[in-house]
Amino acid sequence: MSAEMSAKPKVPDNCCFVLFGVTGDLSHRLVIPALYNLAEAGLLPKEFCVVGVTRRETPVETLHKDLMAALKQYATRPVSQSIADRLFGCITSVYADPARPDSFEHLKTQLHELEQRGIRNHLYYLAVPPSGFKPISEALAAVGLLKEPEGVWRRLVVEKPFGTDLVSAHALNRDLLKLVEERQLYRIDHYLGKETVQNILVLRFANGMFEPIWNRNHIDHVQITVTETLDVGRRGSFYDATGALRDMVPNHLFQLLSLVAMEPPSRFDAHSVRSEKGEVLAAIQSQTEQEALRNSVRAQYRAGRIGDRDIGDYRAASDVNPASVTETYVALKLAIDNWRWAGVPFYLRTGKALAAKRTEVAIQFKRAPFSMFRGTEIERFSPNDLVIGIEPTEGVTLQFNTKVPGQQVVIDGVEMKFRYKDYFKIAPSTGYETLIYDCMIGDNILFQRADSVEAGWKAVQPFLDAWKNAGADGLKTYKAGSEGPEEANELLRRDGRSWRKLG
Ligand code: BG6
Repeated sequence: MSAEMSAKPKVPDNCCFVLFGVTGDLSHRLVIPALYNLAEAGLLPKEFCVVGVTRRETPVETLHKDLMAALKQYATRPVSQSIADRLFGCITSVYADPARPDSFEHLKTQLHELEQRGIRNHLYYLAVPPSGFKPISEALAAVGLLKEPEGVWRRLVVEKPFGTDLVSAHALNRDLLKLVEERQLYRIDHYLGKETVQNILVLRFANGMFEPIWNRNHIDHVQITVTETLDVGRRGSFYDATGALRDMVPNHLFQLLSLVAMEPPSRFDAHSVRSEKGEVLAAIQSQTEQEALRNSVRAQYRAGRIGDRDIGDYRAASDVNPASVTETYVALKLAIDNWRWAGVPFYLRTGKALAAKRTEVAIQFKRAPFSMFRGTEIERFSPNDLVIGIEPTEGVTLQFNTKVPGQQVVIDGVEMKFRYKDYFKIAPSTGYETLIYDCMIGDNILFQRADSVEAGWKAVQPFLDAWKNAGADGLKTYKAGSEGPEEANELLRRDGRSWRKLG
């Protein structure tokens, strides 16, 4: 994500993209289609190759066949055979398994051969479950593959989840940072690959009109919504051990929160932007166990219907414990303890099997004084919401009150809408293109730094602890296809507020 207005994109340095987990779901669905899109856009380095690392000896022809089938299935644009051939022409495979550290010598030999051909920089992309991050990185380090010779870089890319609580996230950071420096570590949160999420910074800081009112003097509260119609599907074993809070809040929802709430960075560079994001997460007020229980709602879905799909009970899903107390919905009320936000609640909600897929941040401004309209027919104003829509509508909406034409003064809320698709032609993408490109050009502005990861976990830890102690007590339910549990409405109602409707 470069800061220039209309610059020609930088061509990345020569690079060997070493893809661990090349045969897995993440590589198939997102990484390979994203590399294809970058190839089509001419944004791959001139000297580029992909080394797919497999844990079983796999002939390169088999790998190509497998990846081509995946590309055809998951490509976001029509696949041109010549571009695909060119990309696949530079994909090789190598066997390396961290359970057999000596196998990393094969990888080293192969990378050494490529170095002789001038491809000297290595990007190690760990498209593997988090349990693989440490052993793979240690195996790379053991054969010297993380060392940076003069003028050459080594980068390590990992993807959420980064730990499962504060202690494990801290341990993971500590382990990885023994092997590489922070600048070499790219922690992906795919929300930062979304254009509309990146636009939050631009909206706030490239316009003079928002910043003066972006504070507790003018803002009543903020609502962050990330709801899905998807149920747990086939991810039962992962999800039941994880839950909605861990899966979504310290990462995706906090990315949105930090961009909306951070102070203006002094520069548009990775250090300044990431420092401000970390600061605001660290300012989330810590809660006692009792406060955490009062300021949260956790719930699990029960059978229902979404569109024309019948959804079964969460507890009946495959690989889910029939007595599970894992939440599939969470709503939180948080406070940010600083001058800008003191007294402005941040309400967050996320969940599965809900009425709509919706990702948005709504800033609700304080209402105008009503005095002038007292004694008229007008009973109330609609709220002034500035809504940053991420999904399904990408854009920004401003809601304000207006006079309904006619002889009497009748006021109604209307919306002024900006939609990305009305202004820009956007080639459909996976959302990983910018992230992968940024790794290759060495721009880590969109990646999470260790301090932010840990600040995020620290902010949710009181909820994790309180719920663990409460067990099944306090776990609510909601019907699949609904707007969530009634208790989540109560969380706002008791403050005289209400959630924006999903439907
Ligand atoms: C992932 C979670 O990180 O994000 C999933 O593990 C969730 O459970 C997904 O479905 C949501 O991403 P998006 O981009 O569809 O909002």
